[in-house]
Amino acid sequence: MSELDRLVSEARIAFEGAPDSPSLEDAKARFLGKAGALTELLKGLGALDPEEKRTRGAEINRAKSLIEECLSNRRDALAQAQLNAKLASESIDVTLPGRSLGAGSIHPVIQTWRRIEEIFSSIGFEVADGPEVETDWMNFTALNNPENHPARSMQDTFYLEKTDSTGLPLLLRTHTSPMQVRYAKTHAPPIKVIAPGRTYRVDSDATHSPMFHQVEGLWLGEDVSFADLKGVYHDFLSRFFEDDQLDLRFRPSFFPFTEPSAEIDMRFSSGPLKGRWLEISGAGQVHPTVIRNFGFDPEKVIGFAFGSGLERLTMLRYGIGDLRLFFENDLRFLRQFA
Ligand code: FA5
Ligand code: MG
Repeated sequence: MSELDRLVSEARIAFEGAPDSPSLEDAKARFLGKAGALTELLKGLGALDPEEKRTRGAEINRAKSLIEECLSNRRDALAQAQLNAKLASESIDVTLPGRSLGAGSIHPVIQTWRRIEEIFSSIGFEVADGPEVETDWMNFTALNNPENHPARSMQDTFYLEKTDSTGLPLLLRTHTSPMQVRYAKTHAPPIKVIAPGRTYRVDSDATHSPMFHQVEGLWLGEDVSFADLKGVYHDFLSRFFEDDQLDLRFRPSFFPFTEPSAEIDMRFSSGPLKGRWLEISGAGQVHPTVIRNFGFDPEKVIGFAFGSGLERLTMLRYGIGDLRLFFENDLRFLRQFA
């Protein structure tokens, strides 16, 4: 084997034995570098005569190309190995179950809201919507609840710094009853409407929250009586609870905007409060002063109104003992209604 062949073979062995790029570059220096074996041979050419120089030069150059080819092959192989190692370390386990998107569901109180709209729509009630920020007049005065009247203290609320045109602060409505006024002032009797929505009070315990939902009902005509209120409300509850053996009571009460007035209680049939009564609604025959504030003649137009708590209806439906659960966003609780 010629000296050059041996050099090529040594270089191939050295390159192939290099485990990584730095050692490959070291090996390259030994053969192709400034002080490398081949360079030394090329330097020796100067001492030869022209004929020999040509043959010897060509031989050395061929050896050099072979060595460079070995080097380049090894470089490619090392780069490929490095890439494979990286891919292997970053590979994903396709057998691992994916994270699901976690489909949402309708909140139980909103499910109640929708059920109520469905039931009342089916017996000819319109569904109306109105502002949560109200004027003092709409929330209280128009409902026969004048400034400084003690009945106002039953419904303390949150006031805004902004005032209305009379200089009184705007407030978060304490009930949906102002919707009676808003609707009646823009519609002619007969009127049959419900108005569900959010309401606010300075309240907080197991059956009261500072933000809650009510649905207002108003039916006005020539001869809509308290008996109609009992009939309609009882039918509504039977359909809502899918049960016509409900434990219900109409308890005499007071509201400035109804006369006579009642509060409606229902008994829990399940859950931690089983057997206990819970108030679900205020109701009554609309007061003549309020009918006049609507712009109607109380001699000609009469009817009833009610205002019911959606959280309370939902508590009774599912036997829930504490309404704060509706607002804690605990998925273990909410999932039960999905
Ligand atoms: C009223 O709000 C009257 N506007 C109802 C009414 C309408 C009477 C029309 C006559 C004619 P009351 O304050 O009782 O009444 O509230 C009505 C219902 O709202 C209660 O029975 C209860 O179910 C619910 N409720 C009241 N306060 C809260 C609260 N803080 N958290 C949850 N539910 C409440
Ligand atoms: Mg009440």
